[in-house]
Amino acid sequence: MEVNGKVAVVTGAASGMGFAMAETFAGAGMKIVLADIEEAALERAVEQLTGAGHDAIGVRTDVSRLSEIEALADATIKQFGGVHVLCNNAGVGVGAPVGGTSIADWKWTLDIDLWGPIYGVEIFLPLIEEQGEGHINSTASMAGLYAGASLGAYNVAKHGVVALMASLERDLRWRESKVRASVLCPGPINTNIVDSERNRDPEDAARHVASAQGQKFWEFLTRTLASGMDPSEVGPMVLDAIVEEKFWVLTHPEMGEIVTGQNRAMLDDQRLTR
Ligand SMILES: NC(=O)c1ccc[n+]([C@@H]2O[C@H](COP(=O)([O-])OP(=O)(O)OC[C@H]3O[C@@H](n4cnc5c(N)ncnc54)[C@H](O)[C@@H]3O)[C@@H](O)[C@H]2O)c1
Repeated sequence: MEVNGKVAVVTGAASGMGFAMAETFAGAGMKIVLADIEEAALERAVEQLTGAGHDAIGVRTDVSRLSEIEALADATIKQFGGVHVLCNNAGVGVGAPVGGTSIADWKWTLDIDLWGPIYGVEIFLPLIEEQGEGHINSTASMAGLYAGASLGAYNVAKHGVVALMASLERDLRWRESKVRASVLCPGPINTNIVDSERNRDPEDAARHVASAQGQKFWEFLTRTLASGMDPSEVGPMVLDAIVEEKFWVLTHPEMGEIVTGQNRAMLDDQRLTR
């Protein structure tokens, strides 16, 4: 799809990969709606784009609330008259083993990481289809393809996002829609995700059940992401998927071996790999 002059909505756009997508799309001549729950960071992100001469607005949005996704769609149509691209990118994570994850942590993670993209697809798809062409990308993770230890709620949400987008793409093909779907499955990227709880209601955050396993994993993740890929590299990958109509966006394709290894073992001896 040709993107110049078209309208893109990016959630979680005040930081990390969401901002990188917004900046890349703006550089390709798109008009951008940046949506994020973190108001001050959102304002700064919008200023950065408008200051560089791009056409962008910010809409404070909590993606876990249907009414706020509806308001985001309304604000987009009011400002730009239509919408062609949606990136369901906002996300959070918390380290905890299954069986030691509080119900509050399950709900917080699934509400944002899975319900956010579901609301996004259901509300925006009809508006995008009205334009006759367009694209919806959602940010899952390698954790959407392989469920490792200590991250159960996140794994469940991100597997759901991969399934949501694959189902969507096949449903779109079924009815010969010109709208396409894709899924971003990043490996380690150096963003603020390890500080996800900065946007959480403190009372809800207090319901987190700390465990030695969860904490150790989070410390490992923090070190790993600190030396991860720069998020600015990811924006062009998502743009390429939109322009070239690709489904899978893998920032670290070499990590795919853990997925093929798991599939191979499933067929060979029905044992779960480590
Ligand atoms: N960083 C990584 O290594 C990595 C790897 C795989 C997947 N991801 C996924 O990438 C996406 C982007 O995260 P990031 O790594 O850029 O982290 P980030 O923390 O830098 O950015 C996430 C953004 O989402 C926003 N956000 C959080 N809750 C929200 C809500 N309820 N409503 C709206 N906005 C909300 C935050 O304010 C923040 O601006 C997430 O979905 C994350 O799960 C990240």
